[in-house]
Amino acid sequence: MPLPSPLQQAIEHETNPMDWQMLKQAIIELSERYRKSPTTPPKQPHIRSEAHRIAYLLSRFPGTFEALTTVLRELGLSIGSTENSESVTIHSVLDLGAGPGTALWAASTLWDSLQEATLIERDPDLIQLGQRLMAKSGIPILQQARWSQQNILTSNRWDVHDVVVISYMLNELESKQQQHVLHSAWKATQQFLVVVEPGTMAGFQNILAARSLLIKADAQILGPCPHQGLCPMEGKDWCHFSVRVPRSALLRRARSGTLAHDDEKFAYLIAARHPGNPCLARVVRHPFHRKGHIQLQLCTENGLTQQIVTRKNKEVFRRARHLQWGARWD
Ligand SMILES: C[S@@+](CC[C@H](N)C(=O)[O-])C[C@H]1O[C@@H](n2cnc3c(N)ncnc32)[C@H](O)[C@@H]1O
Repeated sequence: MPLPSPLQQAIEHETNPMDWQMLKQAIIELSERYRKSPTTPPKQPHIRSEAHRIAYLLSRFPGTFEALTTVLRELGLSIGSTENSESVTIHSVLDLGAGPGTALWAASTLWDSLQEATLIERDPDLIQLGQRLMAKSGIPILQQARWSQQNILTSNRWDVHDVVVISYMLNELESKQQQHVLHSAWKATQQFLVVVEPGTMAGFQNILAARSLLIKADAQILGPCPHQGLCPMEGKDWCHFSVRVPRSALLRRARSGTLAHDDEKFAYLIAARHPGNPCLARVVRHPFHRKGHIQLQLCTENGLTQQIVTRKNKEVFRRARHLQWGARWD
């Protein structure tokens, strides 16, 4: 899904006054930081200058927005909405480490039912930037969102919200700090806690650690896992997914490249207070389309398996033809 056009225009407006060389350098730095995603957290925040903030809008926001939209749509499916998530009744969202407010933009495109949004962020300049973007949205829930400047490591009592989101943030924290934030986030969760991380091995490790902590806290895992048992990828591979994101003309210019898109790799977790509708199997690789059959790599309750779907079973084959990496396979 492309960025909503008021958002795209607001990002372009923020980009205009920037020094182009500084912006290009900041884009390279940010992209390296997220791609490498080291196993130890950074000593300094990833985003630490005005150039980084605008570079984030231009180069990272579209990918994180798309990843978040995919995950929140998945949340809808995992609680029984079959076609789309519009029927999910989510009234309130709390975003921890909100950055420029990416998660709320994504949630607002899916959930008309939203009535209340709280965004917690420690960087006051990012808060102002996020507020300027939302002011131009024409969308009441974005314009009325409550922003609060807080360090989530020291303030940890938030009102309960239907959905709590922690996106692309755990990787900036040490393991003990991650646990602290997850415990506080779970306390503030009325229905669902959503965690999204870069789709790197380090991002997956953060998701795995969050998964076991939340299972111990009696959470029901609704996605991406089809079960609550041990992760069959642990130690061998890493569970991640990918979304294709069109590059804006501005980003193409800033990267001096011709590529028309980026593939945003992400790992995620949806934890719930109550049992929902977890899938029976999840497609964990791009399906292989062969002549007359399709090979599916699946994660199931019984571990990782391969399923071959042949033309013989017309209905199943028809469904499998449209499957994408990350889809449910029930
Ligand atoms: C990579 S950005 C992600 C922003 C947003 N969640 C998204 O998905 O686009 C991580 C954000 O977490 C914020 N952050 C990191 N540590 C924090 C802390 N201790 N308290 C509050 N915010 C924090 C950073 O300032 C930054 O805005």
